[in-house]
Formats: sequence, structure tokens, C-alpha cells
Amino acid sequence: MERSTFIRSSLGLAGLLALHKAAGATLTSTTLTSTTDNNTTTMKNGIPLIQLNNGTTIPQLGFGTWTLTDKPEQYVREAIEVGYRLIDTAQGYGNEAGVYQGVKDSGIARKDVYLTTKVSPQVMRDGTVQRSLDESLEKLGGEYIDLCLIHWPVKDHIQETWTILEDYVAKGLIRSIGLSNFNMHHIDDLLKYARVKPVLNQIEVHPSFSNMQNVGRTLYRDIAAQSWSPLGNGQDLDDPVLATLAKKYGRSVAQIILKWHMQRGLIAVTRSRNVDHMKENLAIFDHELPPVDLSIIHGINSDRRTNAQNDPDNFPW
Ligand SMILES: NC(=O)c1ccc[n+]([C@@H]2O[C@H](COP(=O)([O-])OP(=O)(O)OC[C@H]3O[C@@H](n4cnc5c(N)ncnc54)[C@H](OP(=O)(O)O)[C@@H]3O)[C@@H](O)[C@H]2O)c1
Repeated sequence: MERSTFIRSSLGLAGLLALHKAAGATLTSTTLTSTTDNNTTTMKNGIPLIQLNNGTTIPQLGFGTWTLTDKPEQYVREAIEVGYRLIDTAQGYGNEAGVYQGVKDSGIARKDVYLTTKVSPQVMRDGTVQRSLDESLEKLGGEYIDLCLIHWPVKDHIQETWTILEDYVAKGLIRSIGLSNFNMHHIDDLLKYARVKPVLNQIEVHPSFSNMQNVGRTLYRDIAAQSWSPLGNGQDLDDPVLATLAKKYGRSVAQIILKWHMQRGLIAVTRSRNVDHMKENLAIFDHELPPVDLSIIHGINSDRRTNAQNDPDNFPW
């Protein structure tokens, strides 16, 4: 897309309409199995599909694989078997090949699963982004990658990396490209030279770190916001207020938190080694939380990151 076109789109009425469309998951097409009901597209198991700014769609809830280096193929196969269709990996997780093995073992067609990976800070610093992408492609089945993100905004290496990612989009080897851990100044700087607009920004979001400003500013630019560590890496599961809400609705705390992400219009990737938890985390699309309870959950925020070193302006890796 021409640079001027997407800037108009991101800042003008069209961008805002797209934002409302994304928040309401009002969609038109998908490569994933879907049904259309009342103008909302969902997968057959109830997971909404969010339309990204390049017209592709992504499941709103997915499965994260950070730290799953022990048996990634087993966890990914189980996740797919219980209904996940978005799988999130990264070069830095060291499990891309295992993730793809899990996809193959599940027996699902490649086109029916959405695979995300991320370019690691190390290869950006080393100047080996292109070689790393070829390796990721090979590990993830050799055909194409649905979405590739810049994992962290590594100073002085963002433009070079984005240009390479754009070339892979042009070659049809990567379908969508996006960002992770980008603050607004990083995004606005990238939008000055990008030929392809990022489809989403994957950032830390959970009740104790609601990240309101970054989420809002990302969505305002017609870029989807995706929550990483949506359960606070497990740290938010002990919150007493969430326990009260869970009791009130006969749900688990994890379900209440994930519902809060969904009703904020966020895409989220959550992780579990436990098949019962995997299933439980998907069973959230049959009810809505009232606005007052969403506000109560917003009130939990204490700007507490899962790791104090996760500040994108000051990260050590
Ligand atoms: N872009 C980035 O820089 C970045 C950074 C961090 C993470 N991520 C991505 O985000 C994904 C999710 O973040 P995360 O790995 O921190 O995971 P998370 O979903 O926030 O938390 C996972 C923890 O919650 C527990 N859990 C999950 N469901 C549960 C349930 N229903 N009941 C009780 N406990 C439950 C898990 O334990 P059990 O295994 O026992 O269920 C695990 O200890 C990552 O895997 C990765 O893909 C990206």
C-alpha cells in the first residue's frame, strides 16, 4: 500500500471506522473456517475473528508458547485439538520446529492454523535477519508464515529489519507483519518510512498492567493490539477482587481475565501446559461481563509489569 494511503487510513475516518469494526469483530472474509451470524464472524468453536488493517483475519484468542521448550509439539497438538487456531512462537523461544511438528501431529490443514513468529533482538543486532527468516520459514513448514513481528524495538535496527520484512511480504513468504513491545514513539517513527503498515502491536497487558494508553494509541492508529502474558504470567490469578467476580459468575479467575481482554477488543495469546486449563480458557464466548465489572477490573491496574526489565524503552536483551 502507498505510504500516503495508509497514513490517511490510520489517522482519518476510515481508520476509526476500522477500529470500531475490529472492536466489534464485524468481519467479511477469512481463510479460516467461519460462520457468519448477525454480522459477526466467528470460528465454528465460537472464537471471534478480528479483521486486520490489510484485510486478513486473526483469531481473537490464541495459544502462546513462550517457555514451552520441553514438549512443544505435544502442547501445540493438544491446544489445536481443543480448538486453538492461533499459535504464537518466536525465534527467541527456540521451539519453532516443535511448534510446527505439533501442527502436523494435530492433522489440521496448514491453511486452518494461524502461525505467528518474531524476529529476535539478537539477529537484529547481528545483521542476520534475512538468514533468520529463512530458517524460521523452514522450521514453520517451508511455505509461508502468517504473521511475523519485530520482537523488541532494538534501537538503530528497526528500519533495516522492517524493510527486510516488507520484502518477504512482497515475495509472498510472510502474509502480515507487525510489531511487539513498541511504544508510540517507536510506531510513529516507523510509520514515517514503512511501505507496509504493521497489522498489530503485541504488548504486555493484564489486569495489574492494563496498559491503557498504549492500547488506545495503538488502536487509534488502526493497528490491532494483542495482549501478551494476558494472565500476568499467572501472577494475576490470585487477585481477591477477581476471585469475587469469578464466584459471582461461576467462572474461573482465568476466564474472567480473558473475557476482560476480549471485551476490550484485544487479541490475546495465553499459555498452558494443562489441557483442562487450555479448554477452560477457550470456554468464554457464551457470556458477557457488564460494563461495571469491566471497570472494576480496570481498577486493579497498578502499572506492575511481570518483570521490571520489560520496559520497551529500556530493555536489556
Ligand atoms: N512479545 C513478547 O515480548 C512476549 C512476552 C511474553 C509472552 N509473550 C507471549 O504471550 C504468551 C502468553 O504469556 P505467558 O506465557 O506469560 O502466559 P499467561 O497466559 O499470561 O500465563 C500462563 C500461566 O498461567 C497459568 N494458567 C493458564 N491458564 C490457567 C487456568 N485456566 N487456571 C490456572 N492457571 C492457568 C499457566 O499454568 P498452567 O501451565 O499450569 O496452566 C501459566 O503458569 C507467551 O506464551 C508468548 O507466546 C510474548
